[in-house]
Amino acid sequence: MIPRSRLFQVELGISLVPQRQKDGAGRKVRGEGREFLISDWFAIHFRDRVSQLSRVLDLPPENLIKSISAVPISKKEEVADFQLSVHSVLECSNGHSKPDIQVQARRLAEKLKCDTVVSEISTGPGTVNFKINRELLTKTVLQQVFEDGINYGLKSELFSGLPQKKVVVEFSSPNVAKKFHVGHLRSTIIGNFIANLKEALGHQVTRINYFGDWGMQFGLLGTGFQLFGYEEKLQSNPLQHLFEVYVQVNKEAADDENVEKSAREFFHQLEAGDKQALSLWQKFRDLSIKEYVQIYKRLGVHFDEYSGESFYREKSREVLRLLDKKGLLQRTKKGTAVIDLSGKGDPSLSCTVMRSNGTSLYATRDLAAAIDRMNKYNFDSMIYVTDKGQQNHFQQVFQILKLMGFEWAERCRHIPFGVVQGMKTRRGDVTFLEDVINETRLRMLENMAFSKTSKELENPHETAERVGLAALIIQDFKGHLLSDYKFNWDRVFQSRGDTGVFLQYTHARLSSLEETFECGHLRNINATCLQDPQSISILQHLLRYDEVLFKSSQDLQPRHIVSYLITLSHLTAVAHKTLQIKGRLPEVAEARLHLFKAVRSVLANGMKLLGITPVSRM
Ligand code: ARG
Repeated sequence: MIPRSRLFQVELGISLVPQRQKDGAGRKVRGEGREFLISDWFAIHFRDRVSQLSRVLDLPPENLIKSISAVPISKKEEVADFQLSVHSVLECSNGHSKPDIQVQARRLAEKLKCDTVVSEISTGPGTVNFKINRELLTKTVLQQVFEDGINYGLKSELFSGLPQKKVVVEFSSPNVAKKFHVGHLRSTIIGNFIANLKEALGHQVTRINYFGDWGMQFGLLGTGFQLFGYEEKLQSNPLQHLFEVYVQVNKEAADDENVEKSAREFFHQLEAGDKQALSLWQKFRDLSIKEYVQIYKRLGVHFDEYSGESFYREKSREVLRLLDKKGLLQRTKKGTAVIDLSGKGDPSLSCTVMRSNGTSLYATRDLAAAIDRMNKYNFDSMIYVTDKGQQNHFQQVFQILKLMGFEWAERCRHIPFGVVQGMKTRRGDVTFLEDVINETRLRMLENMAFSKTSKELENPHETAERVGLAALIIQDFKGHLLSDYKFNWDRVFQSRGDTGVFLQYTHARLSSLEETFECGHLRNINATCLQDPQSISILQHLLRYDEVLFKSSQDLQPRHIVSYLITLSHLTAVAHKTLQIKGRLPEVAEARLHLFKAVRSVLANGMKLLGITPVSRM
């Protein structure tokens, strides 16, 4: 019994074929119509072992699989490869008395026997530990990493039986003409990560950007543009120009009632569908999106749909009619309409869905958007990514959908995140996404100017941008998404700390190893050359990757993957020093190269999931 069934039933497709099963040329031979792979071999062995365990424990084998995990590596000592949590096993066995856990662990370990796969059985605190035949472990892990490539870890049995779902992820969602603040940046990178992860797990993902492209701000903007707008500026730099106009008109409106009045009128025209007003609005929207698409590209982010609040102006009316029909709409004295969410008429727990002039609100439009997306995509789950300030808003929207009788409201989920303080660029507060990216690139270029290798880069700007963005993303993903944090450019870019720069640096170093040395075929490597503690630690760590992905897939928190990749990079830094390649026996060099190549592959996979583009030089 080994890898939480990964090693026992699993798909560790390795072609470590016993000699006699190779043909003269050393090729794999086919038995029973398919290749005899090590996975089959494991499967047979581990099935036996699981059934042995399940007999000893009087538990169904399925319960055992969940209780087995790869052992996290330790700096201090060599660890076993897999562990069975005796506690969780005992928890499953209802009706059994629960004597001292350690005694149980020892008793259990005594009843189990080593074989060709498991070379050592021992006990740890509350666990029975298994050490796998070293050569087998080495070959199996490496083979699996290379065979599965970008899907390494995702084919794990931990994800087996996972039904393919239709998932809608709504993220980024900035407001036209308003500031793009740090919250939007977080939504963009977190949403992108969630969408990447869901996609990697085989789900059908639709990425939606829901622009704030409706509301009074367009009244002001329409009026403002007539007063101080320039067509050329709008065309060449729409986001900047619209923002300038917006700031200026806001100032004027505060002093001049007429400006305010004309803004209100303009918005009324928009709401009434006035052609001229709408065409100006459409131009603002189109040009803004065009510029955004370019900037998102720099971030490596794309969307399947650029939706927005404006789409739901008409449909909001239908929602109001439906709410009325269901008897949920209550008129207030002020002429607005609310939904009572307390069930007892408590006004503090009500949600306003209509203004006194009959127009819709943010919540009304979100109701219409959710219903529309359900009709369009028939999603199994829909995820909204915004800062935690909107938690209440989304809970209300979901609750109203439920009251309307939409059972699928349960499939909607809000992923909230915390506030970032103090992100400033040299131009001041963050106003545009582009500013953040430019600032990141600039600072990284300055840092790189000190490094010798960077001077020879063909495309220093692009590299600086990729490394800088990695730094930004890792800094943001390190902690729990809900936590607030204080932003610090210096900390973000430390090359030695646990930063994105460190991950990129590790990736670049590994890439250059691959460029420098020729790496032969895996089947020819001698696994006995990778039995030193550094190699074993790396292999053991690679073995855990699927568990880490699994954790992140459960709570949608990227930090598990981040800390995994940082540990992997630390292990690599040590191995780099101790496991030299140059001047070593070809057999040793070859084996080490394969190990490093496997690390680079997994490192790159993890970085890409997080939304980082790995660099091969820096
Ligand atoms: N545009 C909004 C804002 O900047 C975020 C939109 C979030 N998504 C939604 N469906 N309400 O605050």
